[in-house]
Amino acid sequence: KMKIIFDTDPGIDDAMALAYLGAQPRAELLALTTVFGNGGVDITTRNALYLTQRFGIDVPVYRGAHTPLVLPAPTPAPHVHGYDGLGDIGALDGFVAEPQATFAPQCIVELIREYPGEVTLLAVGPLTNLALALELDPEITGLVKEVVIMGGAFGWGPRRGNVSPVAEANVINDPHAADKVLTANWPIRAVGLDVTTQSILSTAAARELGRTAGETGQFLFDISRGYEKLYTQRDGFAGCAMHDVAAAIAVFEPHLFGYARGTIRAVTDGIAIGQTILKEEGRSFPPGPWDDLPVQTVCREVDVEGVLSAYHSVL
Ligand code: BDR
Ligand code: CA
Repeated sequence: KMKIIFDTDPGIDDAMALAYLGAQPRAELLALTTVFGNGGVDITTRNALYLTQRFGIDVPVYRGAHTPLVLPAPTPAPHVHGYDGLGDIGALDGFVAEPQATFAPQCIVELIREYPGEVTLLAVGPLTNLALALELDPEITGLVKEVVIMGGAFGWGPRRGNVSPVAEANVINDPHAADKVLTANWPIRAVGLDVTTQSILSTAAARELGRTAGETGQFLFDISRGYEKLYTQRDGFAGCAMHDVAAAIAVFEPHLFGYARGTIRAVTDGIAIGQTILKEEGRSFPPGPWDDLPVQTVCREVDVEGVLSAYHSVL
């Protein structure tokens, strides 16, 4: 089994990814660590606690960062995931639960130390908790198995940005953290908009899940109605992008993706704030801020049918 720490800001596609992880027999979920993003951290933490109960997943939840490393907290975007972060269907009304006492970045460090070489960090929100964990204990870079992130856009897909023409939400929500995490000497695999905006769950497929995947499938269908409408109206997709799901599936089914390798920077100010820059291995340029950094892996292509059937086969 793969030991996973799931760093998340639920969020509708986060909820879809969690349902997959909970049902994936090859996953051993060690912890859910929460971060601001699709809502404030109190909202995303409450959602993480709610979802683990609702899906019957036995995993501790740790609250993490409530603001980015340097910048002020981003303006909420309730038109994407709803005011409650889960589609405003009233599911969370009256729900109260408490996370674990430990701060998420500390928990990340402790678990990586407890299982050296075994832990996959799957991060699908702003990268603040990972950056704070690196600050607490820089040596975790050599102890983690892999860091798989949903974030960024690297230049091949239909979309370069979803919050600005060049910036993806998780990166722009804490660009300093993203730059720190993407340039650290640990093995990163980035699943960006290039592939996640191709991984579309159609309305028909979502409805089908509602029929075949029991209570969980129906719940995911119900919370994703507004999210899907946004994609349909804004992007012209007949369905919704499974951003965080694609990253979760990449952990278990790496062969469903094609890859490029290179060094990565995140832009931390100016009009391109939040953009991710990949300098591909083997391309030569005059000296620049992408030199002498660890070479990372980014997704370049995706087998969309493969991703959809991987999701259906587990759920
Ligand atoms: C990412 O931003 C969030 O809104 C989603 O949950 C996903 O992690 C997509 O850009
Ligand atoms: Ca997310």
